[in-house]
Amino acid sequence: AAVHAAQSPAAMDWTQLQAAVAGCTACGLCQGRKNTVFGVGDSKAKWLFIGEGPGRNEDIQGEPFVGPAGKLLDNILLAMGLKRGDNAYIANIVKCRPTDGTGRDRPPAADEVAACMPYLQRQIELIQPTILVALGKTAALSLLGLDAATPVSKLRGTVHRYADRPLVVTYHPAYLLRQLGDKGKVWSDLCLAMSAYANAAE
Ligand code: URA
Repeated sequence: AAVHAAQSPAAMDWTQLQAAVAGCTACGLCQGRKNTVFGVGDSKAKWLFIGEGPGRNEDIQGEPFVGPAGKLLDNILLAMGLKRGDNAYIANIVKCRPTDGTGRDRPPAADEVAACMPYLQRQIELIQPTILVALGKTAALSLLGLDAATPVSKLRGTVHRYADRPLVVTYHPAYLLRQLGDKGKVWSDLCLAMSAYANAAE
């Protein structure tokens, strides 16, 4: 029988990509996971929201943003006329839950982000969203290739580009839950995103 080299995500269709993520062992995060979290939504969605990575609830359920931050995200989507699983796709920078030594959630490390990024890149190529929204620091910095010293506040208010598409940065819903005073800022970021969407869809 022919020996097949491991296929690169860049050559996979949607089903192959899902299977590759489900069986991925490209970094150490595979060891502690209950489930991989591929993403949720219509694979032809025009809006792609990108978070950081699964937390405890997401690891258990295999779906992104299912905890309190997810409820808030669903309400934000509702206010934008969008819906999880319908015209918005929700994914994360990493597909497996990062934890620290004591079982608490932590942000993914640079090598974990690097190992996982080809999957998100392929998701973007296959979904072909009109616009990307980076939710929080990890998503923004990973996509824009910036170092950890750059605060989200510096990245807001500008329409960036990633993969030939507009990318708007806003605060992570989990941060917003702790800083409800910043909800006006998030809404203005999403208004910027809606106008970038309208321009890009013309
Ligand atoms: N936070 C994230 O960034 N992603 C999730 O899926 C859940 C919480």
